[in-house]
Amino acid sequence: MFTELNHCFRLRRRPTGRVTEADLEYVEEPIPAIGPGQALVRTLYLSVDPTNRIWMSEMRSYIDPVPLGAVMRGIGIGQVVASEREDFPVGAIVTGLTGYQSHAVIDDATDEMPYAVLPEPLPAPLSMFLGALGHTGITAYLGLEDIGRPQPGETVVVSAAAGAVGSIAGQIAKARGCHVVGLAGSDEKCAYVTETLGFDACVNHKAADWRERFDAAAPDGVDVDFENVGGEIMDHVMNRLNYGARIVVCGMISQYEASSGENAWGGQLSIGQLIMRRASMRGFVVLDHADRFPEAIGYLAGLLGEGKLHPEETIVDGIEHARDCLNRLFEGSNRGKLLLRVADAELPVPATEVAAATA
Ligand SMILES: NC(=O)c1ccc[n+]([C@@H]2O[C@H](COP(=O)([O-])OP(=O)(O)OC[C@H]3O[C@@H](n4cnc5c(N)ncnc54)[C@H](OP(=O)(O)O)[C@@H]3O)[C@@H](O)[C@H]2O)c1
Repeated sequence: MFTELNHCFRLRRRPTGRVTEADLEYVEEPIPAIGPGQALVRTLYLSVDPTNRIWMSEMRSYIDPVPLGAVMRGIGIGQVVASEREDFPVGAIVTGLTGYQSHAVIDDATDEMPYAVLPEPLPAPLSMFLGALGHTGITAYLGLEDIGRPQPGETVVVSAAAGAVGSIAGQIAKARGCHVVGLAGSDEKCAYVTETLGFDACVNHKAADWRERFDAAAPDGVDVDFENVGGEIMDHVMNRLNYGARIVVCGMISQYEASSGENAWGGQLSIGQLIMRRASMRGFVVLDHADRFPEAIGYLAGLLGEGKLHPEETIVDGIEHARDCLNRLFEGSNRGKLLLRVADAELPVPATEVAAATA
């Protein structure tokens, strides 16, 4: 029925360091024919996430490693183009684990997570459902709401501050009246974080004197650390915690490229500071909290409607660039949410209304 091909990436080898062609191979294959209980989705946007790098490894994780030979797992948004399911009619815009491919089959028997149909009319542009109003924005919201619990006047530190999760976390903390200090990988990113996102300060973690600059930017110590990076940045922040501080362990991207073995993350952290400062540290995985997504999206859409949230995206055209895109996260050459635009919708997409409509 479909004469075009499925453009996809298959995992051939578990990478060490940057992902190469030998690790993640781009292939073109026939699009599978669907049967009863299935629907075919054309991917429109693919989210490129740091955690994809973990999924390629064999480390002990919250989800099984992607098997060698399989299409690479990834979160996407697509449109149903053929269907034998009443709940996923042709034309519906859906989100789920589409994978690194142009066409995915919805099949409850094999899907690792259920697909969801996006609301009609869409309260914002499609791509935003993978960014500010998608899993990255929701991660920022839940991490702060459940673990960070920032109070007005407290100092909140956000690493990878110019990135997808960090940019939203810092803006939420600002909206809550906190003194917000970001860390980012260039002076240009830091200028964007303060001037556009409204953080109070941002420290270039590649500057030789970044520790001194950080101490000057957070003179009253740290009440909440929204941790996206780990390693020496996290360790320095841990040594500046205030009494009762909370560390939101969201991500440890500085460690992911070393994650080849079962438990490969190393590095020394000043865990003893949790005792000295009666501080707490808790990890979480956004995918565990699907029941909270409407609450989070409602809050984020509200901030958007009030003009308090700048939803930055870096969009790259073409599924064939997925591997390079993934590497960009580790080079730091993205700003805000990194996405691939895989295809334009063939069928009409439900009209977009302004974000304020959902507030
Ligand atoms: N717990 C959860 O449920 C959950 C959900 C989503 C994401 N996360 C985590 O949140 C973090 C951010 O994810 P994201 O999607 O928003 O990515 P992102 O911040 O948009 O992109 C990653 C950024 O990390 C920084 N980075 C990369 N390698 C680094 C290193 N060695 N040292 C310091 N900084 C480095 C780079 O920024 P600079 O140029 O500024 O250094 C890069 O732009 C990741 O750790 C991710 O795993 C967790």
